[in-house]
Amino acid sequence: MIVTYADIDGFKNLKAVSFAPDPKYNIIVGPNAQGKTNLLEAMWILSGCKSFRGSKEKDYICLDGNRMESKIKLLDSVREQKISFEMTKSVANPKTIHLNGVKQKGTRALFDVFKCIAFIPDDVDIIKGSPEKRRNFVDMAASQLDPVFVMHLNKSNAVMNQRNSLLKGIMQGITDRSSLEVWDRQASREGSVISYKRREYIEKFNGICGKLYRTISGGTEELELEYRSNVFRPEDFEKPCGEEAFEQYYRKLAETSEYDIRTGITHAGVNRDEILIKINGVSAKDYGSQGQIKSAALVMKLAQAEIYMQKYKDPPVIFLDDVMGELDESRQRFVFDIIRGMQVFITTPNENALLPEIKGKILRIGGGCISEEEENVSSCRE
Ligand SMILES: Nc1ncnc2c1ncn2[C@@H]1O[C@H](COP(=O)(O)OP(=O)(O)OP(=O)(O)O)[C@@H](O)[C@H]1O
Ligand SMILES: [Mg+2]
Repeated sequence: MIVTYADIDGFKNLKAVSFAPDPKYNIIVGPNAQGKTNLLEAMWILSGCKSFRGSKEKDYICLDGNRMESKIKLLDSVREQKISFEMTKSVANPKTIHLNGVKQKGTRALFDVFKCIAFIPDDVDIIKGSPEKRRNFVDMAASQLDPVFVMHLNKSNAVMNQRNSLLKGIMQGITDRSSLEVWDRQASREGSVISYKRREYIEKFNGICGKLYRTISGGTEELELEYRSNVFRPEDFEKPCGEEAFEQYYRKLAETSEYDIRTGITHAGVNRDEILIKINGVSAKDYGSQGQIKSAALVMKLAQAEIYMQKYKDPPVIFLDDVMGELDESRQRFVFDIIRGMQVFITTPNENALLPEIKGKILRIGGGCISEEEENVSSCRE
């Protein structure tokens, strides 16, 4: 799929930015703090995902303004689609989202329409950060392939929130502990499905990451991913996900429930899973060099794009925020070989740091306004 038109105004420091992107490479150039990442972020939020850099929705609106809008037109293999996201400060329902002119209740529908993958410097946190970062990465990547998985994740989170407030109620003596069983049974079903799906995705992902990392390291290093379920042993996954698995999950929740009640939070289940990432057999988080960690994070994102391409005819849109300039020539070539044929938005303070063959539309950005180099026309409306 490709973005054919973007129109953004009042999103952070961006002012009346409208442009028709190149179907292949779009290079967003400008000094620091001009709005390059903001421009990617303003398009990204139309994918139904939260900001890739963790911004809160209330911070989307320019500090000096009252309103923001971000609109795109995109062309998938079937048709043109239009998405818009508008927000107004200080009203009861600040957010309005439209898909093809139809008002949406939330961002959920956008997830199936605009598929993109963002590479950002913070991706190293997938390797170095908390287990939650790795779980979120895998869940997000698997969700792009399997909408049913999103449903189970949402249900599981809702059940966990209920269970945790119940635990607090029991701890304070205001709720009866007999009601815990109902929630534990539900949590066991959802949690088992999520564990099996995580395991399935990681198995597939592991093969592709291994192949890519071997190439990026010149055949000298091995990357390996291993799913460490908090409930199931690897051999348990040989049996289908059914009543037996639900029971095993339920027993695990029951094991820690005394401690859970004392602390008011759940200590077992999918929210305690770990995904171990190993380079040459040892934990990349604990022993990886800076370069190994960066390469591993890059490979994980590229593997996500490759799996996506295997499943869908339509390639995702790629956002590369400040990632290319940091890579040497051979690593840049490696990345571009994999994302060949996809529409790419690249930000960089220095376009000379990019491979010479990456030619496309240059969008210069200064003070939140853009000008397109090819046509040399300022698109910042007065
Ligand atoms: N809600 C907001 N309202 C107005 N300005 C904002 C808001 N949020 C962030 N900004 C400003 O937007 C500017 C541009 O930020 P952005 O992260 O897009 O810069 P950048 O061009 O990507 O820079 P770098 O090269 O350093 O990554 C910053 O000066 C930031 O302070
Ligand atoms: Mg930036």
